[in-house]
Amino acid sequence: MSILKSWARGALLSTIAFAGVQTAAAEELRVGMITPPSHKWTITANEVAAEVKEKTDGRIDMLIFPSGQLGNEALMLQQLQTGALDVAFLTLGEFANRDPNYGIFLAPYIVQDVAGARALLKGKTATELLDGVSKFGVVGLGYGMAGMRQIVMRGAVDSVADLAGKKVRTIPFKPELDFWTTVGATPTPMPLPALYDAFANGQVDGMQIDFEGTWNTKYYEHAGAIVESNHMMFPMIAVASARRWASLSEEDRQTLDSVVKAHLDELVHSYAQIDADYLDKLKTTDVPVVKIDRAFFGDAVDDWYADWREKAPMLKQLEAEAAGL
Ligand code: BEZ
Repeated sequence: MSILKSWARGALLSTIAFAGVQTAAAEELRVGMITPPSHKWTITANEVAAEVKEKTDGRIDMLIFPSGQLGNEALMLQQLQTGALDVAFLTLGEFANRDPNYGIFLAPYIVQDVAGARALLKGKTATELLDGVSKFGVVGLGYGMAGMRQIVMRGAVDSVADLAGKKVRTIPFKPELDFWTTVGATPTPMPLPALYDAFANGQVDGMQIDFEGTWNTKYYEHAGAIVESNHMMFPMIAVASARRWASLSEEDRQTLDSVVKAHLDELVHSYAQIDADYLDKLKTTDVPVVKIDRAFFGDAVDDWYADWREKAPMLKQLEAEAAGL
């Protein structure tokens, strides 16, 4: 609908309402996420909100709360369960901490790139896990992702020995913590908003992060090496409160579901270009970019798999899918 048409319709609805004629009540849906306004997840959430508003003729108004304004992901999940929050874009951390199978997408080098991540996120295992979030009191709407995980360190990185004993910031996500312990570093969980200062003042020696954050938040200003490792994918899951979902009409549920899924697929697809663009920008700085692959980590990757095949039985199924890509 054009802006003019949309305005005209809004004006007409207001006039009808003013004249006392019954109109369907507007629904407000609160949407939470930890990413800042500039981040692609938040931009996508705003695009979803605009399209849902248009498709429901203004009846559904999605209000976006970025930067963890509604609390961290643990708090957001609680709010979704009680119906105090309607929709959220979350990392898989809270789900993985309740069921290790949600941690398997962080298997190191399970995919080589964004195209591989996109294929796995559309696969059988991912779909099974998306449906399975109903056991946490939420409805799975779809998967997104952030950029492939990279490493930014204060000092030079020539070999894995340069990571030994180093405090590497991670998110509090068991598979990530295990990976960094296996590598011989000291994983240091820390929320994103605290990271810039912690790196600048030496509280952490480095971080696992993506190129987007490294550039936008200027972590490179304090870095001695940017390690292009592409060692993990980093999925996002969009979920709705099951309580709130049940209160929506079938038509509105379908609209929300289809709009979110279409935008998330586009989001995932766009990360190949986003990663490439931010890497190019980082190469214009004075910080050396060191490219590494699975072999750099020695036995650590195989050791991680041996451990996680036991912890998360669905990992083998995901590995089989990845092998067929
Ligand atoms: C992070 O904590 O590293 C992160 C979280 C969400 C999106 C991207 C990165």
